Amino acid sequence: MKILGIETSCDETAISIIETEGKIGESFDIKILANEILSQISLHKEYGGVFPMLAKREHSKNLMPLLLKALKESGFLKLKIKSSKSKIEENLSTYELKNLQTLLGREPELLEQFEKEIPKIEKPPLMAIAVTKGPGLEPALWTGINFAKALSAIWNIPLIPINHMEGHIFAGLLQKCEPLITNHQSLVTDVMSYKLSVISFPVIALLVSGGHTELIEMKDWFDYKILGATRDDAVGEAFDKVARILGLPYPGGPEISNLAETARLKELRIMNYELRKESETEKIKLPRPMIHSGDFDFSFSGIKTAVLYLVKKLPELTDEIKAEIAREFEDAVVEVLTEKTRRTISETCAQTLIVGGGVAANKLLRKKLTEMAGEEGADIFISEISHSTDNALMIAVAGATHYANFGKESFDNSNFKATGGLKIDNADLF
Ligand code: KG4
Ligand code: ZN
Repeated sequence: MKILGIETSCDETAISIIETEGKIGESFDIKILANEILSQISLHKEYGGVFPMLAKREHSKNLMPLLLKALKESGFLKLKIKSSKSKIEENLSTYELKNLQTLLGREPELLEQFEKEIPKIEKPPLMAIAVTKGPGLEPALWTGINFAKALSAIWNIPLIPINHMEGHIFAGLLQKCEPLITNHQSLVTDVMSYKLSVISFPVIALLVSGGHTELIEMKDWFDYKILGATRDDAVGEAFDKVARILGLPYPGGPEISNLAETARLKELRIMNYELRKESETEKIKLPRPMIHSGDFDFSFSGIKTAVLYLVKKLPELTDEIKAEIAREFEDAVVEVLTEKTRRTISETCAQTLIVGGGVAANKLLRKKLTEMAGEEGADIFISEISHSTDNALMIAVAGATHYANFGKESFDNSNFKATGGLKIDNADLF
C-alpha cells in the first residue's frame, strides 16, 4: 500500500511517503518514496527550548511546501489539465468546503495555501494518511492533524491516527535492505528499501526522548503495557537542561555527548582545588537516581539539580570542567538506563529489546545497551541515528502496519479511536 505520514508533534515538520507490502509478523517490506524533514531547531535555539506557538506557526507555514516536495519526489505530483473550473469547489461540495474551512480555520496561512495548491493537483495514488495524534505539544499537533483531516476529506482516503511513541518503536524495527533500482515514474532512481525486523516476543521497548522515558512490554504486536516511566524529567529533557546549565545550545543531547567524548578521549582531569576538596576525588561524581529502586521507574531531575549545585559552587566553569561534567552526566544517565533495562529484560524474560526516541541517537547508550542485551541473551534493535529523532517515516510505517492489521474499515473518519496504540498523555486528541 502507498501511504502518507505526517508528523508535527514538536519542532520538526515532517512528511513521508512509503510503499509497503506484506503482513505484520511475516514479512513486511517498505520502500521510502519520500522522506522530508524541516527542523525548526535554529529558530527555537534562542529560547533554549521549543516554544509551542512558534512551532505551530512554522508547521502551518511549512506543511504545504513540504507535501508538494514529497509528492514530487515520489513521482505523485501531477498537475491537473487546465479547465475553466480550477477552483477548490471543483473537488468539494459546499458542505465539504465549509468543513475544510472549519478544519483549517485556525491556520489561515495553511488554509490559503491549501485552497491555492490542492485543487491544481491530481489526487495521488495514496491509500491512507497516517498522522501523529500525540503525545506532543498540542498547538503543534493540531496543525498536523487538521492538515491531515483536510487532505483525507478532499482525497477521500482514510486517516490513521498514530501514537508518536509507537512510531519510535517502529523506527527501531526498520532494517535496511540493498537499495532498489526501480523504473519508478520512468525515472531510474535508487529507492531506499527497508523491511520490518522479525522479532521474538516478549519484547521490551526502551523509549527515550525529549518528552518521555518509558519501558514498555509487548507480548504481541500492538499489545503495549507501560511497565515504568520517569517520575519527573524525561531523559532528553535532562540532557537539554544540563546543557543549558553548562551554557551549551539547544538541543543539548548531541552537545553533551560530543563534549563527553572529548573528555573521555583526552582523559581530562579536574585540576580545580575546590572541587577536589569537595568530592575528595579528582573526578566529579553525580548520583545514579533509582538505579536500585526495585521498580521500573526513572527519575532524572536529581542529576540535573546535582549539576546545578556543582556549577554554582565552582569559582569558574572552564571548558575542561564542562567536558568533565558532561562525561559524568552521560555516564550516570546511561548507567541508569542500561541497568534498569537489564532488570526489566531479566524479570520479564524478554527475548528482544527495541530502543527508540531521540536519545537513542546517543552513541554511548547504543554501545552499553548492545553489550547488556548480549549479556542477557536478548536480540536488540535500535533505530538508525537518522531515524531516532522525530520523523514522519516512523509514523507512515506504524500507519501501514495498522492498516495491514486492522483493515481500512477501522479507520473510518468518524472512528478515529480504532488505533490500538499506546494510550498516554494527550495521545487521544481525536
Ligand atoms: O524523539 P525526539 O526527536 O523528540 C521527542 O519526541 O521528544 O527527541 C529529542 C530529544 C532531545 O531532548 C535531544 O536533546 C535528544 O533527543 N537527543 C540526544 C541525542 N540526540 C538527540 N540525547 C542524547 N544524545 C544524543 N546524541
Ligand atoms: Zn519523538
